[in-house]
Amino acid sequence: MLGGMAAPVVVTDHPLIRHKVTLLRDVETPVSSFRALAQEITMLMAYEALRDLETETRDVQTPLAIAEGHRLSGKKLAVVAILRAGLAMVDGILPLVPSARVGHIGLYRDPETKQPVEYYLKMPQDLADRDVVVVDPMLATGGSAAAAIDRLKDLGCGSLRLLCLIGAPEGVEVMQERHPDVPIWLAALDSHLDDHAYIVPGLGDAGDRIFGTK
Ligand code: PRP
Ligand code: URA
Repeated sequence: MLGGMAAPVVVTDHPLIRHKVTLLRDVETPVSSFRALAQEITMLMAYEALRDLETETRDVQTPLAIAEGHRLSGKKLAVVAILRAGLAMVDGILPLVPSARVGHIGLYRDPETKQPVEYYLKMPQDLADRDVVVVDPMLATGGSAAAAIDRLKDLGCGSLRLLCLIGAPEGVEVMQERHPDVPIWLAALDSHLDDHAYIVPGLGDAGDRIFGTK
């Protein structure tokens, strides 16, 4: 775990995650496997990132006796995908929390300025009352994640966490400056950004690899 006063940055370096991230990075990995891996890694990360969900006890009748069980009791959950690439992570979380609502924010990086441009927004009505998990495979300059979270805070969200597959130190720093209250989970923290603000070594363009657009 890194960080001082800011919310934690957790690199979930479980052996299964390290193994799958290596396959994800591989330039030879085909689209179908890339999608499956992104989903599997997200599910493994969500298991850790949702560790603090509140529960209450609830007795359950087994065929033999009454057992003390538990049920989720805190706020309901919403997953917010940063389009396009964040879509690949949504299906990693929904099997774990099937009743979660899903919001979408469309952002693309202007190739010249590297600044995020918003082109779509559709959120659940009661978003402000939910724990919100923002998903995007890449945290590069941090501009897209920070802009998405600006928007969600404007909509009243107070409980936010960010899940990304690969992060760069530059993106982590921007997030910690602009949103020090938002904890971040990464499957890997890479070295740096190149001149085009791509993560090195990274995995290339996540959207293109997920959707086969290049
Ligand atoms: C990618 C990625 C992030 C963003 C990260 O999306 O999915 O949203 O770049 O970069 P940043 O941290 O420097 O903002 P992209 O803009 O390529 O759009 P896409 O998902 O539609 O391909
Ligand atoms: N967006 C991507 O898809 N990949 C990067 O390395 C940086 C931004």
